Amino acid sequence: MKDRIEKVLEEVLNFPVKNKQELEQFKLKFLTKKSELNELFSFLKDVNPEDRKTIGAHLNKLKNAAQEKFSIKMVELEEVGAKGAGEMPDLSLPVIPNTLGARHPLTIVRERIIEIFTRMGFNISEGPEIEDDWHNFSALNFPENHPAREMQDTFFINKNPDIALRTHTSSVQIRVMEEQKPPIRTLAPGRVFRNEAISARAHCVFHQIEGFFIDEKVSFVDLKQTLYHFAKELFGKDTQIRFRPSFFPFTEPSAEIDVSCLLCKGAGCTVCKHTGWVEIGGSGMIDPNVLKNCNIDPQKYSGFAFGMGIERITMLKYQIKDLRLFTENDVRFLKQFKHL
Ligand code: DAH
Repeated sequence: MKDRIEKVLEEVLNFPVKNKQELEQFKLKFLTKKSELNELFSFLKDVNPEDRKTIGAHLNKLKNAAQEKFSIKMVELEEVGAKGAGEMPDLSLPVIPNTLGARHPLTIVRERIIEIFTRMGFNISEGPEIEDDWHNFSALNFPENHPAREMQDTFFINKNPDIALRTHTSSVQIRVMEEQKPPIRTLAPGRVFRNEAISARAHCVFHQIEGFFIDEKVSFVDLKQTLYHFAKELFGKDTQIRFRPSFFPFTEPSAEIDVSCLLCKGAGCTVCKHTGWVEIGGSGMIDPNVLKNCNIDPQKYSGFAFGMGIERITMLKYQIKDLRLFTENDVRFLKQFKHL
């Protein structure tokens, strides 16, 4: 019995373990239930009782030796594997699919808009989503009792009616004008909030992109030409643009911006409600009162401003019929959009 143990010990010590397959063979031979080594334990009961103790001790030593060799080799092989110098990877194995995410359609459109305007010299500005009355309304020339301030439109903070979630990115105009001196040519993309019921065409959280330019002698012609160039870049070179007289407290004169319908090219369809035109935002010449509120001299400087809804433009661009799709996070919807 003792000789057999010696022989197996020798085998354990000499067994070559240079890779993971050999380590596995080592384990099968010496460490599993059905292994040669384990079999020796079953003979222990046949050994005469006075020798049983010493033989048992020998057997344990053998088992420990095998286990120790296994652990040491396993660690060694792991380390070599981690360094990349171990076994060759199995190149015939199927590739683990690495599915890349896609950018959100609103992100794609926002970045494309930014790209077009930055090429015309605009930079990017940001403002807070939680605003005070001054930046969201008063400095923008909203009269005290203007309906836009009313509770059904604006999310006010209960404890302090001076604080609200911004209802438009025009608040960033004030933030920037308070801090910078003209010439200013900047773009402010961001989230805005209105107390609206969620439907296919309206949401309480949506995105706008504001832009404005202040310098000496800025005129309506500059506004028209800037937006015309923008519309052709984003929607295609045949796109026409139209300004419809409108009213905003912070611009004078003010105009709604329409582009010729992308789908019917002006012939009339359901998207443009058979007018041939679709509205993409508001614009105008910055009201002198707004400039004054920000300590910019309206005698010396003038400027234009515009604000557009990113959802609206995205829906037009991709013919998306329901605004709620943007926030439902359905992967089948989200993965359809490619770079513009
Ligand atoms: N702030 C307006 C809105 O949310 C959009 C707008 C209109 C922005 C005219 C402008 C502008 O900068 O000149 O409805």
